[in-house]
Amino acid sequence: MRNLTAFFLTIFNHLKKLLVQWFWLKRLQEVIFPTPSMEFLTPLMMMNDNEDFQTQTLDDLSIRKRNLTNNIIHNHNFSNGLHSWHANCCDVFLVSPSVGNSEPKACEHHHHAVVTNRNEHWQGLEQDITTRVSSGSTYTVVARVGVSGMHLEKDADVIATLRLEYQHSETKYLFITKTVVSKEKWENLEGTFVLSDKPKRVVFYLEGPAPGVNLLIESVSIYGDGQTEGCVYNQEGNIILNPEFEDGVNNWSGRGCKVALHDSMGDGKILPKSGKFFASATGRTQYWNGIQQDISGRIQRKLAYEVTAFVRIFGNNVTSSSVRATLWVQAPDSHEQYIGIANSQATDSDWVQLQGKFLLNGSPSKVVIYLEGPPPGTDILLDGLMVKHADKIPPSPRPIIENPEYGVNIITNSNLSDRTNGWFPLGNCVLNVETGSPRILPPAARDTLGPHEPLSGRYIHTINRTQTWMGPAQMITDKVKLFVTYQVSAWVRLGPGATGPQNVNVAVGVDSQWVNGGQVEINDSDRWHEVCGSFRVEKQPAKVMVYIQGPAAGVSFMVAGLQIFAADRQARFRHLKRQTDKIRKRDVTLKFSTSDSNNIHGATVIVKQIQNSFPIGSCISRSNIDNEDFVSFFTKNFNWAVFGNELKWYWTEAQQGTLNYKDADDLLKLCNDNNIATRGHCIFWDVESTVQDWVKKLSKPDLSTALQNRLNSLLNRYKGRFEHYDVNNEMLHGSFYPDRLGQDTRADMFKTASQLDPSATLFVNDYHIEDGCDPRSTPEKYMNQILDLVQQGAPVGGIGIQGHIDSPVGPVVCSALDKLGTLGLPIWFTELDVSSVNEYVRADDLEVMFREALAHTAVDGIMIWGFWELFMSRENSHLVNAEGEINEAGNRFLELKKEWLSHAHGHVDDGSEFGFRGFPGTYEVVVVTGSKKIVNKFVVEKGDEQLVVPINF
Ligand SMILES: *[C@@H]1O[C@H](CO)[C@@H](O)[C@H](O)[C@H]1NC(C)=O
Ligand SMILES: *[C@@H]1O[C@H](CO)[C@@H](O)[C@H](O)[C@H]1NC(C)=O
Ligand SMILES: *[C@@H]1O[C@H](CO)[C@@H](O)[C@H](O)[C@H]1NC(C)=O
Ligand SMILES: *[C@@H]1O[C@H](CO)[C@@H](O)[C@H](O)[C@H]1NC(C)=O
Ligand SMILES: *[C@@H]1O[C@H](CO)[C@@H](O)[C@H](O)[C@H]1NC(C)=O
Repeated sequence: MRNLTAFFLTIFNHLKKLLVQWFWLKRLQEVIFPTPSMEFLTPLMMMNDNEDFQTQTLDDLSIRKRNLTNNIIHNHNFSNGLHSWHANCCDVFLVSPSVGNSEPKACEHHHHAVVTNRNEHWQGLEQDITTRVSSGSTYTVVARVGVSGMHLEKDADVIATLRLEYQHSETKYLFITKTVVSKEKWENLEGTFVLSDKPKRVVFYLEGPAPGVNLLIESVSIYGDGQTEGCVYNQEGNIILNPEFEDGVNNWSGRGCKVALHDSMGDGKILPKSGKFFASATGRTQYWNGIQQDISGRIQRKLAYEVTAFVRIFGNNVTSSSVRATLWVQAPDSHEQYIGIANSQATDSDWVQLQGKFLLNGSPSKVVIYLEGPPPGTDILLDGLMVKHADKIPPSPRPIIENPEYGVNIITNSNLSDRTNGWFPLGNCVLNVETGSPRILPPAARDTLGPHEPLSGRYIHTINRTQTWMGPAQMITDKVKLFVTYQVSAWVRLGPGATGPQNVNVAVGVDSQWVNGGQVEINDSDRWHEVCGSFRVEKQPAKVMVYIQGPAAGVSFMVAGLQIFAADRQARFRHLKRQTDKIRKRDVTLKFSTSDSNNIHGATVIVKQIQNSFPIGSCISRSNIDNEDFVSFFTKNFNWAVFGNELKWYWTEAQQGTLNYKDADDLLKLCNDNNIATRGHCIFWDVESTVQDWVKKLSKPDLSTALQNRLNSLLNRYKGRFEHYDVNNEMLHGSFYPDRLGQDTRADMFKTASQLDPSATLFVNDYHIEDGCDPRSTPEKYMNQILDLVQQGAPVGGIGIQGHIDSPVGPVVCSALDKLGTLGLPIWFTELDVSSVNEYVRADDLEVMFREALAHTAVDGIMIWGFWELFMSRENSHLVNAEGEINEAGNRFLELKKEWLSHAHGHVDDGSEFGFRGFPGTYEVVVVTGSKKIVNKFVVEKGDEQLVVPINF
């Protein structure tokens, strides 16, 4: 039980932070990009802390870190015998590389250890690492392991664990990672850990196989995110000159400041990370001042580069600050561009690694890499910078999901027939079982599961809550399968005692991470509400717990019929395909007439659709269009475009009165030239953190004038050119303008925009509408907002659902579309992106969203928020890799596009007609009579009626 308590405490320590991070991330997803998408932002605008984005996959981490030699494991490959190692309650011996016969051969020319005479699963080989680890740092474990022995049946688990011994409390065991090893094969065991406290003793060990099975170990490495000794990098391929300052500060210079060489600083407290020297950028008076190197001519366009540096800060009483690596790029026409590469929180107490990737689309005449970020007066220290062509990391295969048990509830005793068995109170609240809850399934679960036995009518009433996080909980560790998307559904209701609306959240604690499984806001205690959502786990966790939480302390709440089940996406796809054919296709009759008397009855007809006119678009950015590979994929596969930032007010008028429409003009020209329609995104943005400083500082009358000027300037300039405008972005997540100018402001924006460009359809645009996880932006709230606007005379013409979604589940998305659809306005997905470390899973997510959209009558278009790696606001969401290779998600997208082209063939009937059913768009028809082959083109417009297309020869 103690272990469990410690585990909860870790979760709660992280919970608050994660909640904040989560909202922050969602809020910033458009404006502040972690990757080169932030190009063109001035250094000052990039100041915002965006490190929350910089999550790395395990693969990235371990592969990069293997280049480092800061292994905290001593004698990691047994080259020094068994020194530093200890066999726990079993025996160990070494086998030299030439000897191993029955055992698999170690790949390096070293000994390997054989751990034998094991009588328990937990017996294995250990090393005390107490003095080499510190709390808060992330450590990556990479080990090469095998198994052998007579008792080995087939496969065996090998587990990496930490034993944490404390002075005054019980020993804890921290699971790090595990792998399945089969006979005759070495496997890599990889994982990470962070210590949240400082135990008296920290022991790393490998364990796991059944008693009697020998555990084989070739090497064990643990890398910290900071502590290196000796040589820092494998310097091969580094394009940086004099990267470790062995040649003084040659080839380096100060960007607006001075650079200095050091062998130590701060009375010898600061020593080089590696080698003999490091450099400092000193005398800084601006955030953007720092150390730089000109790398012009050593960089090739359209290649991905990875950047690694060790940095630190010094002086001016600043103990911690963001340090960023940035590229300054100048085109032959002198156009300048800033590209953010990496961002790290640096400290004055240790070296911190800075890592990132970039790619140049254009052919710059000058490229300079520099470090920046800390406040003026604080020095930036640099020891070692590497810029090299990025290694290609092969994609993971499709995850194999054995026995997914679709539709089966993984919650134990969900119907409470066995009192609270399987449940426990999180914290010192009290769980009571009572009766009287609904017996039907909540709607979204019903949509997925179909006919279902009624619920029991029993519910858990949680009382005596003294913290918001208290509620009923259940461990589901062994039931959650990696990469499976789980749908979450429950009835919830508030007890008496609430003042004002309360959130109720199905939370999933995955190790120390909080994952949102669905959330509702409830403003009454009179009725039951549905909470629905979804989640997915993509990295082997040690513990997974589900708990229901959220209402204020003192407010009791009830939960009934909690269901968590794997959603069968394929089953729903079959239904969606039928639905799509039904609502999107149209009956078409080709009516042939010929000028000569040639009888074409019976002639062979081949109908081929060339393009589907259903709007499928993408976000593009100015620098993207310098890359001809990008342009080719874009123009071939999309018929709509939206500009990432180039039309936003902070972009077109970063400084008051200095207008920049050049980037938008360039993008618009490309779209016009290729017959691609455009959405105007966005005229205003109601979220305060996205508003440029000069606007924030305006007095009320000046702000009102500036707003008018913005409308006049933008809409007059582009009159008739953008078919849509997002008038005031994210009004459910911000209220900058109404807060300052009054409640009529929003409707006035719509009215004025409509007067200035009557041809444009004016949209509202917001996020987390469709996934059940954000109580601020439920479909109901969105509908109320739209109805309010309309009542005030705002000509709202369309509903934008951004679609930055995690682990989508069709019925949840569909239920939001159903609700919004009742307003009768066209709905567009305006910024769709999905994210998974696994490309196949990402492809599945994408397919879910596209199929739901195409199968829903209210949806009139889908825009994705980019497709090219390093140029998207979300990590692991790209369809095309940085250097142009189409990945699995991209392939799926192309397959779907192909599926949505209609083809038909047959013969011209006696009435000179040929009928078929197809998607709107452009077609080619080939008619073959005798030796004559006639080719014609025609267009099928969107519509419900049968369409007759005359084809004249
Ligand atoms: C790097 O510095 C050395 C020493 O000052 C100099 O000879 C060399 O030309 C520099 N290289 C470049 C590309 O600037
Ligand atoms: C540095 O910070 C400490 C404690 O916050 C303060 O007492 C001291 O005056 C500061 N020194 C300077 C130079 O600002
Ligand atoms: C409750 O669930 C159990 C299995 O978990 C089942 O045996 C029982 O019939 C169910 N009772 C009701 C009333 O649904
Ligand atoms: C719950 O709280 C009430 C007071 O609010 C108290 O009277 C009661 O004893 C508590 N019940 C439990 C089981 O702690
Ligand atoms: C909550 O409900 C009350 C009564 O129906 C209503 O007056 C109030 O505006 C609601 N609050 C919110 C935030 O919806």
